[in-house]
Amino acid sequence: MRITATVNGEILQADDVWEGESLLYILRERMGLPGSKNACEQGECGSCTVYLDGVLVCACLVAAGQAQGRDIGTVEGLAGGDALHPVQEAFAEAGAVQCGFCTPGLLVAAHDLLARHPAPSDLEIREALAGNLCRCTGYEKILDAVHLAAGRMAAQPEPDGPAGAGGPAGAGGPAAAEGAR
Ligand code: FES
Ligand code: FES
Repeated sequence: MRITATVNGEILQADDVWEGESLLYILRERMGLPGSKNACEQGECGSCTVYLDGVLVCACLVAAGQAQGRDIGTVEGLAGGDALHPVQEAFAEAGAVQCGFCTPGLLVAAHDLLARHPAPSDLEIREALAGNLCRCTGYEKILDAVHLAAGRMAAQPEPDGPAGAGGPAGAGGPAAAEGAR
């Protein structure tokens, strides 16, 4: 089957998609967007986190067919051209990136958190990122990075987020039954 979806503001197509393929698979293997990582393929690690109609989902748990006609935002959509998003800059500067496998999912989840809570507490950060596992950093640098990004975003206008972010999110939305995390 053919899947057509808006991904980071662009209409993309994937052809010859088998019904068992996941959104993560077609993003990485058919749409040329390998930023979202496949670490567990079971909805456990959060490394594949993307926006689906403005709601965070584990792309490994979303069937490719469910992406038809939807609005998707991936880590590739965070940066504005060559300019990194403040969340990306903060992760790099705070030392929150080691092997980097968890980083794309953490960046999308942190972006979502800061859109909802511009100045989150440690507890709010820990809760928001609880679905994103990191085996390398011990999480303290990740907390530092989110606080750093929050401070910078408060001091400058928010660049456009990825298309698919901040859409009609909310409990009970369509993504709620599709790997929403
Ligand atoms: S790859 Fe681990 S949650 Fe999707
Ligand atoms: S930096 Fe290696 S898993 Fe997080």
